[in-house]
Amino acid sequence: MNRILVAGKGGVGKSFLTFALAEYLVSLGRPVIIVDADESNQSLHRWFGFAEPPCSILDFIGGKGAIKVKLREALRQSQGDPRVSIFNDQAIDLNLIPEEFKKTRDGITLISIGKIKEPLEGCACPMGVLAKDFLSKLTLRAKEYLIVDTEAGLEHFGRGLEQGVDKIIAVAEPYLDALEMAERIVEFGEKLQKKTLLIINKVMPSSEGANFVVPEGLRRLNKVPSIIFPFSFEIYEASLKGEKPKIDKLTKVLEKLVLHLE
Ligand SMILES: Nc1ncnc2c1ncn2[C@@H]1O[C@H](COP(=O)(O)OP(=O)(O)O)[C@@H](O)[C@H]1O
Ligand SMILES: [Mg+2]
Repeated sequence: MNRILVAGKGGVGKSFLTFALAEYLVSLGRPVIIVDADESNQSLHRWFGFAEPPCSILDFIGGKGAIKVKLREALRQSQGDPRVSIFNDQAIDLNLIPEEFKKTRDGITLISIGKIKEPLEGCACPMGVLAKDFLSKLTLRAKEYLIVDTEAGLEHFGRGLEQGVDKIIAVAEPYLDALEMAERIVEFGEKLQKKTLLIINKVMPSSEGANFVVPEGLRRLNKVPSIIFPFSFEIYEASLKGEKPKIDKLTKVLEKLVLHLE
């Protein structure tokens, strides 16, 4: 299966890697569904060159209120730990989701779970419940990939989003805090028995190799394949302008990443 979740500390390049991997896979003729499961950052669509984000899956199912009703119902019917099913069907076929709730072009389909839109609107937990149910039921076609871009940090592990994927990419930048966060993600991934790999992104040529700080834990986890992505001024500039970056110079490293994912 090709169901991948991208996780890491804020700003390390999760969304960029989601974009770069998706573009590369599409160039190989592999269709990709991208699920934006980050409730805070509102701009994943821009990476892919879409002027507007798709309407959210949260809006599709009737908003947070609809989830709260399902939650209450599940609590009423359960003794203790409730199993919440937001979608009545056991399998979700993307074709059955109306066009306004997805953005599509050249083999790429972008889906958004839901965003925080207003102050004091309440916590993002309903979106977590929705994302978990959606991802675990979304069906893929042969050769299709699913890439889930997540909110920074570890909360999605607590919510169980990873149940809907079989591979995890932990992304870090070469600094201690980000590497330690990636170390946790690798540990969690292994506990959940998911194939997990580590990407160290934005590595300056001078720090390539082992010259940057690597926490002891990561050294011990050296059985996890790790891939180094260089810092690129082109990517940096494109993001400054809100433009879609070119990934042609990353072909070799993306090829390596896909080999590790297979
Ligand atoms: N390899 C890279 N080289 C240069 N800039 C990068 C690279 N990867 C990501 N960036 C930039 O870093 C910033 C944060 O990346 P983003 O993907 O939004 O992080 P995250 O999704 O982890 O919060 C963006 O401006 C992005 O363009
Ligand atoms: Mg992001």
